[in-house]
Amino acid sequence: MGVKLGILGLGTVGTGTVQLLQDKGFRHPLLQEVEIYRVGVRSLDKPRAVTLPESVLTTDLEAIVIDPAVDIVVEVMGGLEPARSLILKAIQNGKHVVTANKAVISRFGDEIFTAANQAGVYVMLEAAVGGGIPVIQPLKQSLSVNRIHTVTGIINGTTNYILTRMQTEGSNFSDVLADAQRLGYAEADPTADVDGLDAADKIAILASLAFGGRIKLKDVYSEGIRQVSKTDIAYAEKLGFVIKLLAIAQSAAPLAAIANRTTPSSPLISVRVHPTLVPKAHPLASINGVNNAILVEGEPIGQVMFFGPGAGAGATASAVSSDILNLVAALKKSKTALNQLLACAHQDYCQIVPMAELVTRFYARFLTKDQPGVIGKLGTCFGNHGVSLESVVQTGFQGELAEIVVVTHDVQEGDFRQALTEIQTLTAVDSIPSLLRVL
Ligand SMILES: NC(=O)c1ccc[n+]([C@@H]2O[C@H](COP(=O)([O-])OP(=O)(O)OC[C@H]3O[C@@H](n4cnc5c(N)ncnc54)[C@H](OP(=O)(O)O)[C@@H]3O)[C@@H](O)[C@H]2O)c1
Repeated sequence: MGVKLGILGLGTVGTGTVQLLQDKGFRHPLLQEVEIYRVGVRSLDKPRAVTLPESVLTTDLEAIVIDPAVDIVVEVMGGLEPARSLILKAIQNGKHVVTANKAVISRFGDEIFTAANQAGVYVMLEAAVGGGIPVIQPLKQSLSVNRIHTVTGIINGTTNYILTRMQTEGSNFSDVLADAQRLGYAEADPTADVDGLDAADKIAILASLAFGGRIKLKDVYSEGIRQVSKTDIAYAEKLGFVIKLLAIAQSAAPLAAIANRTTPSSPLISVRVHPTLVPKAHPLASINGVNNAILVEGEPIGQVMFFGPGAGAGATASAVSSDILNLVAALKKSKTALNQLLACAHQDYCQIVPMAELVTRFYARFLTKDQPGVIGKLGTCFGNHGVSLESVVQTGFQGELAEIVVVTHDVQEGDFRQALTEIQTLTAVDSIPSLLRVL
């Protein structure tokens, strides 16, 4: 028997998730267990990018969350209500929940997790922070034995896109915002992004996981990027900084010690979102455009950085589906001896492409006798084997020998090697001291 999903919403994330779940080839075998049982939408008449049986689509979302056949409710509809009420009703009806909704979790996480604990179900939210970047599960599991000092994130793609363009083009905030809206990188109402509210939702969630305590959203200080001017960016640049909208959750234990405060019974932390001058050598300084990154610092791990696409249908679907898979594994665990995500499920060998069939670019350095026409001879040998050259540079001399460097276009390694074998027979060629692959 498959695990039945009731999906609430078939917009960007819902469609991406259905597409991923329908295309199961060469993904985790547990996906075979997943059945898209119901999908709730607002309008049945809207054209959809995915094909689903007529019986699957419905506008009755309430019926989905109380349907006894549904095992997992996937909330990808967004907004506060009715999303919050539907999540709570799903929990009351014993469903596990997967959600991408940072706004609901950051505001109503208290109520939702209390209800989930009482009902004995899981609420999974990998997609709520950092889109496709796995950061929730690492904080909950892989890094959970660490004492976390700081979580620092660039977790709003729109503002990072705007700041990156202001930096590279020397443009004003309002001009770049208008262009970002025209290109679809910023919403018509950009408030949640540019005033730091979206990042505040997300850092509240990360802080809660990293420091093991609940966070009231109103306690998260949030300052957006409207006041950042191109003059500030230019000065920052001169001083060796870039300006980024950082979301920071930081242990304040050292501050408490300085202030002679007694050790608090619950973690004492600072949680904030604000534009920040970041030294150019800092790992977050090179995170540009709509990308997101989260730097976690703790003991004993040191620094770990998660980087990737913070939004988008496919990326977010990856996060939503990984939560679904985790729940499927947990549901199956009661019936089989091992959790199939933790156990090694592979039995067959992969087929490995021989190096001779690899397609890559090459860098090669030749030492040749200083004779006329050597470069032409090299070119002929390469041409004989279908190797085309991106650049040829005669760099100088090493003693009596001329040094020639070539970079090829993409070529099959086998063809390139044959060309080299032919080149080595040329009397003008002394040696080939370097051979490197180019990314
Ligand atoms: N987009 C991203 O890249 C991204 C990344 C990370 C997290 N998220 C989060 O994922 C969630 C979904 O975002 P999205 O971009 O996929 O939103 P979206 O494109 O606006 O899609 C929303 C979907 O929910 C349905 N829906 C909304 N309200 C409804 C209601 N009251 N009754 C029935 N159906 C309703 C809509 O139905 P119709 O299609 O019939 O209108 C639509 O299919 C949000 O919480 C968002 O913050 C999004």
